[in-house]
Amino acid sequence: MQQRNNVKIAIIGLGYVGLPLAVELAFNYKVTGFDIDTERVFNLQKYIDHTQSVESKTLQDAITLSNKADTGLCITDIEKNISDCNVYIITVPTPVNKNKQPDLSLCFAATKSVAKFLHKNDTVIYESTVYPGCTEEECIPILEKESGLKINTDFWVGYSPERINPGDKIHTLANIKKITSGSSPEAAAFVDELYASIIQAGTYKAPSIKVAEAAKAIENAQRDVNISFINELALIFDKMNIDTNDVLEAAATKWNFLPFKPGLVGGHCIGVDPYYLLYKSKELGYTPQVILSGREVNEQMGNFIANKVNSLIKKKGNTNNNILVLGFTFKENCTDIRNTGVIHLAEGLSNVGFEIDIYDPLADAQKVKQEYNLTLLPELKNEKEYAAVVHAVAHDVFKNIDFNNWKNNKTIIFDVKGTLDKNLVDGRL
Ligand SMILES: NC(=O)c1ccc[n+]([C@@H]2O[C@H](COP(=O)([O-])OP(=O)(O)OC[C@H]3O[C@@H](n4cnc5c(N)ncnc54)[C@H](O)[C@@H]3O)[C@@H](O)[C@H]2O)c1
Repeated sequence: MQQRNNVKIAIIGLGYVGLPLAVELAFNYKVTGFDIDTERVFNLQKYIDHTQSVESKTLQDAITLSNKADTGLCITDIEKNISDCNVYIITVPTPVNKNKQPDLSLCFAATKSVAKFLHKNDTVIYESTVYPGCTEEECIPILEKESGLKINTDFWVGYSPERINPGDKIHTLANIKKITSGSSPEAAAFVDELYASIIQAGTYKAPSIKVAEAAKAIENAQRDVNISFINELALIFDKMNIDTNDVLEAAATKWNFLPFKPGLVGGHCIGVDPYYLLYKSKELGYTPQVILSGREVNEQMGNFIANKVNSLIKKKGNTNNNILVLGFTFKENCTDIRNTGVIHLAEGLSNVGFEIDIYDPLADAQKVKQEYNLTLLPELKNEKEYAAVVHAVAHDVFKNIDFNNWKNNKTIIFDVKGTLDKNLVDGRL
């Protein structure tokens, strides 16, 4: 295994996870960031990060450092530029396919890229979220087969899941405790020390790679299940004509009541990772019930909100056919549109015949067009009349919006996240 003072690191995949990691490491080590997305690489080389995970100045500092001998970040879309590295960290997406089965094709492709250049004594670390057992059962065999090298004799493997929270400027890479693990005690120690050198919050060395993989999977599955319980309450209280947020506020006065909120659960972590756990569990002969039903409840919320907005409009007797949806990204203050729950809400409203305008200054309009065939409003115009304005994503930039611009005796204001003044809104989840 390499000495830590001798490492040259390759990061494979420069997205929400890979870029901040590459930058943080680059202030201490020589780092090459490799991504197959040529446009992303072109922008990053010009210090532009559309994910808004890293400040332009910080990116510039990390790249500029590479002129010196032993630190700094080089960004490339040329695969062979990672050939002289000795630590490879894989941070590529691990989505699900249409059937909600793990799609590991990008992870396997990245593994093959690394295997091409793997030398004796190198270490490969996975950060992508996977199911327990995936690294050892799927990825290590690929590394061995493609490189001809032997695990724990010629090369070592680590797993260290990422816990960053897009859009959250407080819980950032360096101040979130990081789980580490390795294919042997020596590998675990090496991986742990590597991360400990950049993570101020410290590290937690898990007893095995499988434990580290499972810990990540359950962190997100737990959130999914907790939110699904609150979402189920929203479905029940709707039938009882009780405001769910009022109930939650009252219940939260008990010391041990957990403060979860109802809402759309999207993105490619909380809405995806439980399927990885489900897949592996089913493969081993147990069909999870709590996790599965949690997923089912959360997946129907977009449609539920659409129906609720529709019935509020009908109650007002408004025949206007236009609805404004504020926010499209999967969560507040984040640019990521993947698996956004807002799409189900918009589709639900379209299905009952409404014309939808969507405004989200954080979302990349071109990507929304490509992925969802929807055209975002370039700007908000107050003069257009709407049957409903749906505050779907609570971006900070929406705090400046005066909802009274639309408020009249016909327009419904619906607050999905329950963050607007209660007296202003006609309905909330
Ligand atoms: N985004 C998050 O908040 C978050 C948090 C924790 C864990 N994760 C996990 O981390 C992993 C990465 O997620 P992300 O959000 O950073 O994804 P992302 O889509 O933002 O970035 C991944 C990058 O990898 C690149 N890529 C894909 N295949 C490649 C290959 N073969 N070689 C080189 N580059 C390749 C893509 O072009 C993309 O730029 C996933 O497993 C995800 O579940 C994400």
